[in-house]
Amino acid sequence: MNVLLIGGGGREHALAWKISQSPRLTKMFAIPGSPGIAEFAECVADISIDDNFAVVNFATEHAIDLVVVGPEAPLVNGLVDALNTAGIKAFGCTKDAAQIEGSKIFAKRLMKKYNIPTAEFEVFDDVDAAKNYIRSKGAPIVVKADGLAAGKGVIVAQTLDEALSAVDEMKTFGTAGNRIVVEEFMDGQEASVLALTDGETILPLKAAQDHKRALDGDKGLNTGGMGAYAPAPVVDENVAALVTEKILRPTIAALKAEGIVYRGCLYAGLMIRDGQPKVVEFNCRFGDPETQVVLPLLEGDLLDLMNSCATGTLADKKLSWSDQSAVCVILASGGYPKSYRKNLPIDGVTKAKSLGALIFHAGTKFANDELVTSGGRVLGVTVTAQNLREAVDKAYRCVDVIHFADMHFRRDIAARALN
Ligand code: AMP
Ligand code: GLY
Repeated sequence: MNVLLIGGGGREHALAWKISQSPRLTKMFAIPGSPGIAEFAECVADISIDDNFAVVNFATEHAIDLVVVGPEAPLVNGLVDALNTAGIKAFGCTKDAAQIEGSKIFAKRLMKKYNIPTAEFEVFDDVDAAKNYIRSKGAPIVVKADGLAAGKGVIVAQTLDEALSAVDEMKTFGTAGNRIVVEEFMDGQEASVLALTDGETILPLKAAQDHKRALDGDKGLNTGGMGAYAPAPVVDENVAALVTEKILRPTIAALKAEGIVYRGCLYAGLMIRDGQPKVVEFNCRFGDPETQVVLPLLEGDLLDLMNSCATGTLADKKLSWSDQSAVCVILASGGYPKSYRKNLPIDGVTKAKSLGALIFHAGTKFANDELVTSGGRVLGVTVTAQNLREAVDKAYRCVDVIHFADMHFRRDIAARALN
């Protein structure tokens, strides 16, 4: 099969790495790809992933059998619809289905209508009404912008003052902040369960735990994710069964009842308390960095599974898993998620690989044949080992040989699971 991968982050590098192992793969292209993805795919940097017309043309001209869409933006932008209209198969959901991530209000209303466990909420387009509601509920309380805001449109307010100023802050998120969701605060442990689905059959992947805050001890600002590990012990067999029966299955069925066939990866961000999972959010794609720890544990042919998702033939597929643990430590630019320097030379990637790490590139580029930083999250250092303790220790040994100026990472990835 000829494959076109859309995206260029750490998640897409992990996808490219796994897809490259498939005996069904003939040739892989990536738009835009990255220096890491270039090991597995021909990277095409002069087409924008937001340009559906150009991507469809490229796929047609290169006889692509399956387009794999990594990030949410092109899904929300209807890329899969455009590909399907042109008769090209794609792994990823349609524009209608992507509302589950693209609009928090769509997701919350769907969950309410179909009794899928999540926090109580109200929707406001008026600032004063939102503030009055917040005053009536008290803190802690959660304020969210409606649309995509690159993970930054959520404020978990511990005090009433914080919540009230959060409402004003939402206005800074452009159209995403026009409507505001105010939500009950949920206490508990977070975990991410990603599932492959063809709209009928649902195959949940091993649960992972992300580390969203920038600093150790879950301090500092929210980021795209500073590290992850899998499997996450908080999702034991009982919780996993509840996630499938009370969340994943009803959600796919709810979408279907609304006339939407969901194909691709459904990501359930969960809060788990006393063994009961509730939905924090849905994403319409693989998680990043979760993908960087989940795929190394998956045995078998990811391309074949993705093709089955796209063609509605997942029913006869099974997943098999390594019994190891995986840990990913994200190396970020100092200052991220706020402003940071770029174009800083990166040393030690080859050394870290020789120590057994998988290095997934998130924000790198080549400048005069030298690998340099080009984003907030720069590299994901992933290690698998017999157990979580060994994986953590080995991951940090690999991290210690990598260097770039201002490099920042968390020292406590998976610490909670080890305690
Ligand atoms: P979201 O973008 O909706 O996933 O929110 C980002 C982060 O905010 C989540 O990963 C949680 O850590 C936190 N969060 C969101 N909603 C809630 C909630 N209702 N209760 C507690 N924490 C929340
Ligand atoms: N790791 C969080 C996300 O992918 O949205």
